Amino acid sequence: MEPEQITQDGAEAPQAAGAAKKVFVKTYGCQMNVYDSQRMSDALAADGYVATSVMEEADLVLLNTCHIREKAAEKVYSELGRIRDLKAERARNGDEMLIGVAGCVAQAEGREIIRRAPAVDLVIGPQTYHRLPDALKKARGGEKVVETDYALEDKFDHLPQPRRADVINRGVTAFLTVQEGCDKFCTFCVVPYTRGSEVSRSVAQIVAEAERLAAAGVREVTLLGQNVNAWHGEGPDGSEWGLGRLLFRLAEIPGLSRLRYTTSHPRDMDDELIAAHRDLPSLMPYLHLPVQAGSDRILKAMNRKHTAADYLRLIERIRAARPDIAMSGDFIVGFPGETDADFEDTMELVRAVDYAQAFSFKYSPRPGTPGAEMDGHVAEAVKDERLQRLQALLNEQQNAFLASLVGTTIETLIEKPGRQAGQIVGRSPWLQPVILDEKAGRIGDIVSARITNTGHASLFAERA
Ligand code: 5AD
Ligand code: SF4
Repeated sequence: MEPEQITQDGAEAPQAAGAAKKVFVKTYGCQMNVYDSQRMSDALAADGYVATSVMEEADLVLLNTCHIREKAAEKVYSELGRIRDLKAERARNGDEMLIGVAGCVAQAEGREIIRRAPAVDLVIGPQTYHRLPDALKKARGGEKVVETDYALEDKFDHLPQPRRADVINRGVTAFLTVQEGCDKFCTFCVVPYTRGSEVSRSVAQIVAEAERLAAAGVREVTLLGQNVNAWHGEGPDGSEWGLGRLLFRLAEIPGLSRLRYTTSHPRDMDDELIAAHRDLPSLMPYLHLPVQAGSDRILKAMNRKHTAADYLRLIERIRAARPDIAMSGDFIVGFPGETDADFEDTMELVRAVDYAQAFSFKYSPRPGTPGAEMDGHVAEAVKDERLQRLQALLNEQQNAFLASLVGTTIETLIEKPGRQAGQIVGRSPWLQPVILDEKAGRIGDIVSARITNTGHASLFAERA
């Protein structure tokens, strides 16, 4: 694919034909990083960079990193080794290649990254992306730049908005970060340290961004936050709004046919949010609500501040409000002190909930978190065995959910051309890709599709 010319609205293309600086951005980890990478690309576009999908030709390689588990962080260092060689090769040809590390590894490790990978020119944490153009200027002058302070100003007030053309290029679904950071301090998790304490964006900012997206043709918006349902803000009437109220407001925006939000904490599912699931047809019947474990002893050690029974009761209330809701979750096996009996409690909870989809991980001790210091670390082989059993159960549930859809007719948002000629791919209300004949509709249409068969985590359908 040809690199696309990105410039700020109304700005002249900074250097015409061939001379523009090129940036290659690689994103690791969660959806919030995907959103941040787009906003960084928007900021870099205003600074005269065009995006490229070819790392070898980039003048700036930016890795937007994830620190959630050790494996994620280590991937970054092996990639940096490869990029260092590219940079050396470019230097031999007299060309400069800057290397930037952004995201949660940047925040957690700061200058240590430059110590371990001296080819890195710039380290920038998630709270300071609006300073990226300035930081780059310094880096181009030969300085090693580390920007990881928590900014006092709001980065979103300073980051440029994407051009309409870029929004359209990114497709008919979009992410919108409404909240960042976490005050919950689960004992396994680095997020409160890498993303800082909970901050909510204002109602006005969120509504304006959602309206801009809808006006550019976006049909589905996913509100993002590490603790998205802890979002709160002052409404235009001066009262305090929660996420439920915000969703009611966003549902009024013409053209926005589908709303989603992720990731939620069970303790922040309040009545208004549950009412939104009951009353808003555009709020998709899918909820990612991580529980992490099914044993009360482990939940306590994880500092989740709820029991397994609290979680099950909550799901009952949500299902009473929206019977067709599909549940998704996250699980950690092998947290310190987890016994066979504790793990069986997790299996039991999974059976009780019946998930349409879920993510499960082996516990990975993260430096600086209380969990890493706890006694009773579980042997890798035991973690492996538990993960396998849990994933077998979750797969069975996911397949049963897919199979239950065969023969039904569902609303599908058509998103993109399929991998095979003649096909298009849509998205079900429960997030599965739906593969249809290309004549079924155009990108951006929401069509009725009759499910004919299941694939691996996907559905085949024909226009109903
Ligand atoms: N080890 C394993 N999994 C983790 N997660 C968060 N921290 C860790 C860790 N230290 C998982 C949780 C969380 C998801 C995003 O990643 O399940 O919900
Ligand atoms: Fe991490 Fe827990 Fe906060 Fe989620 S709620 S980001 S798991 S500390």
